[in-house]
Amino acid sequence: MVTGIDPNRIPTHVALVMDGNGRWAQRRGLKRTDGHAAGEEALFDTVEGALELGITWLTVYAFSTENWKRPADEVRYLMGFNESILVRRRDEMNDRGVRMRFIGRRDWRVPRRLIKHMDRSIELTRNNRRMTFTIAFNYGGRAELVDAIKAMMADGVKPEKVTEKKLRQYFYDPEMPDPDLMIRTSGEYRISNYLLWEIAYSELIFTETLWPDFRREHLFDAVREYQDRERRFGGIEKED
Ligand code: IPE
Ligand code: IPE
Ligand code: MG
Repeated sequence: MVTGIDPNRIPTHVALVMDGNGRWAQRRGLKRTDGHAAGEEALFDTVEGALELGITWLTVYAFSTENWKRPADEVRYLMGFNESILVRRRDEMNDRGVRMRFIGRRDWRVPRRLIKHMDRSIELTRNNRRMTFTIAFNYGGRAELVDAIKAMMADGVKPEKVTEKKLRQYFYDPEMPDPDLMIRTSGEYRISNYLLWEIAYSELIFTETLWPDFRREHLFDAVREYQDRERRFGGIEKED
C-alpha cells in the first residue's frame, strides 16, 4: 500500500474536476487545445493510481453542459479528442478490469460517432468489476435533476411516492454511489454544476495543480488529506 494511506479507509468513490488545461497551455505559449491533449497523461496516470489504491468508482468531468459556450474550434477539438481517447484507450481499460460508463445528456450536439464509441466502450467493459470509471460528458448537475424529474413524471410516479431514493433511481447512473471525495484542480473554488445532488456530503479538496500536471501522487495526497478529515453527516463527533 501507498505510504501514509490506510487501506481500510479508501474512499469508495472519487470525483474529479479536471480543470486548468487552458492555463497550462497558455503559460507555455501553446494553444488551449494542447493543454487538453496534455491532460490525457494526467488522466490515465490518475486511473492507475486509483486502481493501485483500490478505489472502485472514479468519475471525471470531461465536458459540461456550459462548455458549449466555448469557441467552436475548441468544442470541435474536444469532441474529436474524447472520441480518440475512447478508441485508443478502451482496450487498455478493459485489460485493467475497468468498467466504463458515461453520465450526461446525449443531445443532438454530441456527435453520433462519439456516442457510438461511448456505447462500444460501455459494451466492451460491461462485465469488469475492479473499478467503474465514469466520464461525465455534456453533463450538468441541474440538467441531471431536470432529466430525472421528467423521466419520473413520464413514468407516472405519484407525488406521494416521490422520495430522495426514488428520484435517485432516475439519475443518469442509478448505481453510482455518492462521491466520498471530490477533487478540483487549478485553484478554482467552485463546483461548476458538477454532481450537485451527489456531493451533498462529499469531502471537497481543491488543489492549485493544473490538470495536465496532475499525477497519481496528487491523488494520493488528496486521499491522505481525506483520511485526516472527520465526516459527520450531520451527526456529532464519534467518541474514540
Ligand atoms: C478543463 O480545462 C477542461 C475542460 C473544461 C474541457 P479548461 O479548458 O477549463 O482550462 P482553463 O480553466 O481555461 O485553464
Ligand atoms: C468545469 O470546468 C468543467 C470541466 C472540467 C469539464 P470549467 O473550466 O468549465 O468551469 P468554470 O467555467 O471555470 O466554472
Ligand atoms: Mg476551466
